[in-house]
Amino acid sequence: MSSTSPRPRSFWDDAVVYQLYVRSFADSDGDGVGDLGGVIGRLEHIAGLGADAIWLNPCYPSPQADHGYDIADYHGVNPEYGSLETFDRLVAEAHDRGLRILMDLVPNHCSDRHPWFAAALAAGPGSPERARFVFRDGRGDEPPNNWQSVFGGPAWTRVTEADGTPGQWYLHLFTREQPDFDWRNPQVLAYFDDVLRFWFDRGVDGFRIDVCHGLVKDAALRDWDPAEGSYNAYSWNRPEVHDIFRRWHALAAGYGPERDLLLVGEVWVPDPADLDRYLRPDELHQAFSFDLLVQPWEARALRAAIGRATARTAVHGAPAAWTLANHDVHRAVTRYGIVRPEPAPASNDAFAALMRPRGEVDADLGERRARAALLLVLALPGSVFLYQGEELGLPEVQDLPDEARQDPVFHRTGGREKGRDGCRVPLPWTADAPAFGFGTGTPWLPQPAWFARYAADVQEKDDKSTLHLYRRAVALRRARGLGRPGPVEWLETGEDAVLAFRRGALVCAVNTGSTPFTAPAAWGEVVLGSAAADGVPGDAAAWFVSEPDGE
Ligand code: GLC
Repeated sequence: MSSTSPRPRSFWDDAVVYQLYVRSFADSDGDGVGDLGGVIGRLEHIAGLGADAIWLNPCYPSPQADHGYDIADYHGVNPEYGSLETFDRLVAEAHDRGLRILMDLVPNHCSDRHPWFAAALAAGPGSPERARFVFRDGRGDEPPNNWQSVFGGPAWTRVTEADGTPGQWYLHLFTREQPDFDWRNPQVLAYFDDVLRFWFDRGVDGFRIDVCHGLVKDAALRDWDPAEGSYNAYSWNRPEVHDIFRRWHALAAGYGPERDLLLVGEVWVPDPADLDRYLRPDELHQAFSFDLLVQPWEARALRAAIGRATARTAVHGAPAAWTLANHDVHRAVTRYGIVRPEPAPASNDAFAALMRPRGEVDADLGERRARAALLLVLALPGSVFLYQGEELGLPEVQDLPDEARQDPVFHRTGGREKGRDGCRVPLPWTADAPAFGFGTGTPWLPQPAWFARYAADVQEKDDKSTLHLYRRAVALRRARGLGRPGPVEWLETGEDAVLAFRRGALVCAVNTGSTPFTAPAAWGEVVLGSAAADGVPGDAAAWFVSEPDGE
């Protein structure tokens, strides 16, 4: 793999991307479910944060078995969220404010209500309709192989054939309502070419691509030896997936440099070095650095993960896509606030324990650390993806009543895993309004009373709030070009618990310990700190500048 030839500057070299979970952002029509009208109504909030782009979680027609990751129609908008017309309005209004729009592409599977799947069921074994999915005969009354669904239970479901007899089995790496496509079938390739073009032609600026590592399966569908762990190397990270990304890279490039389209991948691989292959210059433009997200709050571990990602950029030129949270993981405040860890339950998901660690949480400590982590990622070269609610310092809602939980992870594991509802609770906008200003209806997930403290209007009035810290950090990052390509120069701090690096005239120092750190005078003055106290107290970060008036 050789270094890339220079390419023109792209918005995603250093973008701040606001990840927007449509269902939980803002509800404009009173049905308790967020929608695109709600997004349009609050675009100023996102523009005011200083974001460059919005990634919308899936908003296509979907029965919502996995909240939009089960798509019944790739060319439309979920009627609960609006229409194609609302979507077009959103793109236009976002563009007017300098915000790009990224959609979520879900190519591994569709919904069992997708017309292709209905046709596959009707057409029967051996038909071309079934060949778009992974249908196989069972082994007697057992599934075709021993693969497990990420969300719990087997990865196969048996269908009843038209004549009423128990029939073939189909593969679903997630819920049974999400049948996997067979990406060896050229019809599937052609179909997704069309999906990409459909949205690019409507003005969309790129895609976050779901489960990139899963699209192609072992040709022989071999049994996986569970002794090898829950990362099934026959279903994930197969070499054939790369042909698909090359194809999409070329398709996006066909729109010309002026469109500056982005393909950013969700790629979960056990060895971060495996990401290299996805980031070859003719494949994905970026892939999330989950390696950083899963690190404990320890300077050495954080520094090592950053080093691995920046070394990767040096090889293939793809800027890192940093992220500390998303709609699948426990919120950063809660992860970093764990004071007494508890063992994770056994899971089919190799990453569940890292994404949603358990234990007793000190939310104040977690908040201090999450604020520090914000300054850490915003000082790094690359793009930063920030999940809605991070600007409010929201903790995970861990006390949701079981009967309110909707995540298939909770239901398919019989409640053993609590799942992901706790980071998807509708946002609190106004402390003393019904549903905290989310909308006039009853929110689809209940908001806890303690959300009032985090409401945007409360934080607006408090100069020390996370909301203000976030805005200042994003503005300074832009003013000083912190996200631009360039080295991360590590500095000696003499303290194991403190990491520090230089980006131009700015030094970012993060103290993961509890003892205050005294910075060398040569670093200059603090221009932004995550803590109320001066300097770099425990569990805090600060940005220093030696030439306050610029570089
Ligand atoms: C990805 C999504 C997650 C979804 C799964 C299946 O991991 O981020 O929310 O449930 O894929 O599509």
